[in-house]
Amino acid sequence: MRRAAVAVAVFVVLAAALFWLDPVDLYLWIKALHVIAVIAWMAGMLYLPRLFVYHADVPVGSPQSEAFKVMERRLLRAIINPAMIVTWVLGLWLAWSGFGLMGGWLHAKIALVVLLSGVHGYLSYAVRLFAEDRSSRPGRHWRIVNEVPTVLMIGIVILVIVKPF
Ligand code: HEM
Repeated sequence: MRRAAVAVAVFVVLAAALFWLDPVDLYLWIKALHVIAVIAWMAGMLYLPRLFVYHADVPVGSPQSEAFKVMERRLLRAIINPAMIVTWVLGLWLAWSGFGLMGGWLHAKIALVVLLSGVHGYLSYAVRLFAEDRSSRPGRHWRIVNEVPTVLMIGIVILVIVKPF
């Protein structure tokens, strides 16, 4: 948790320093921070359901199950949650300052990011169920869930880079 707090603090200080210095290429610096946060968020969103696939197959109360609980909780709190907040805040700033919140591609991208955030909520809920030994979903379910962030991420990246409409 301390490392997560330090990482978020570094991001906040860096962003605050950039706004204070106000370089001519501020937009590009913020975009770089946005993409770094996106990578951290996506890494966690792809890894967490993979942990669930293995966790679902070990007996409740076993040492492996307890180890998975720690890994899942740390991944969620230390990486996934802070990375999602930074992605949203900086993404909305880019959308406002670069595009006045206008554009079909932007609205479609935000819609897909809302869906991705919904998957995030579902995974957080699953971390709680696993922590309380109340998850009844088989590994196959988590294998399928694992594909959802991948598909959404492909759509989001195409929309923001190609801007097809
Ligand atoms: C609601 C949250 C988000 C908003 C409002 C948002 C908005 C934006 C905006 C306005 C840009 C700048 C585009 C440009 O300068 O051409 C950008 C860049 C980018 N975003 Fe997001 N974004 C969000 C979340 C995400 C997510 C979840 C991903 C990936 C899964 C993502 C991936 C990217 C990438 C790769 C770029 C760099 C594109 C480029 O430079 O060509 N964003 N975002």
